[in-house]
Amino acid sequence: MTLLRAENLSHAFDYELFNDISISLRERESVAIVGRSGSGKSTILHILSTLLKPNGGEVFYKDKNLYKLKEDELLSIRRYEMGIIFQSHYLFKGFTSFENIKIASLISNKPIYKNLLRRLGIFNTLKKNVGDLSGGQQQRISIARVLVKSPKIIFADEPTGNLDKQTADDVMSVLFEYVYEKNSAMFLVTHDEELAKRCTRAYRLKDKTLTLIL
Ligand SMILES: Nc1ncnc2c1ncn2[C@@H]1O[C@H](COP(=O)(O)OP(=O)(O)OP(=O)(O)O)[C@@H](O)[C@H]1O
Ligand SMILES: [Mg+2]
Repeated sequence: MTLLRAENLSHAFDYELFNDISISLRERESVAIVGRSGSGKSTILHILSTLLKPNGGEVFYKDKNLYKLKEDELLSIRRYEMGIIFQSHYLFKGFTSFENIKIASLISNKPIYKNLLRRLGIFNTLKKNVGDLSGGQQQRISIARVLVKSPKIIFADEPTGNLDKQTADDVMSVLFEYVYEKNSAMFLVTHDEELAKRCTRAYRLKDKTLTLIL
């Protein structure tokens, strides 16, 4: 089943970033985008994940035309169906790791599985204030927070940017397994071409267009 379908997207801020690009995601698929800094990868991720209405084109989530929905319908999809791992993570400073994850669990009314925390290697950080954690630990807390929501689609913007190779591989395995086990899907932005190749498909964003590289 197709979960997400974007057609003929174009967008500009100061200058045109991309033009007439289309992309789709089915259950159990992961799609990666690579490209130079500033090419518009995060912008595409924001458009696909309800956060930014494109200048041109349409995005369908399970055949609902996202940017034609009422604001409360759009919010509900964002909250219950989508999990967004941002390039810069927005944790609640002054709260512990556990409290940060608990908030997601409360909002989505979903349980926290200890095994997930263990597999992300953050079990021993739970009582610490997130402000006292390393960048890579904070990144993994933000990933836990997204997975606890049990989203139908994960949008991940450089989720392993702060991690060493081994930790990055472990974290990506958690994400790939999640997608497979939950019949979910993942849209991944990364600089890491090796990682992109672990996905079902990978594209390069260059010259305002997407080219399939895998
Ligand atoms: N909200 C905004 N307002 C104005 N310009 C923006 C906005 N968001 C992004 N831009 C501009 O759009 C261009 C693309 O930004 P984007 O964040 O999509 O790039 P990126 O490919 O994700 O880069 P990186 O690899 O560095 O994360 C940049 O020139 C950026 O300054
Ligand atoms: Mg970016």
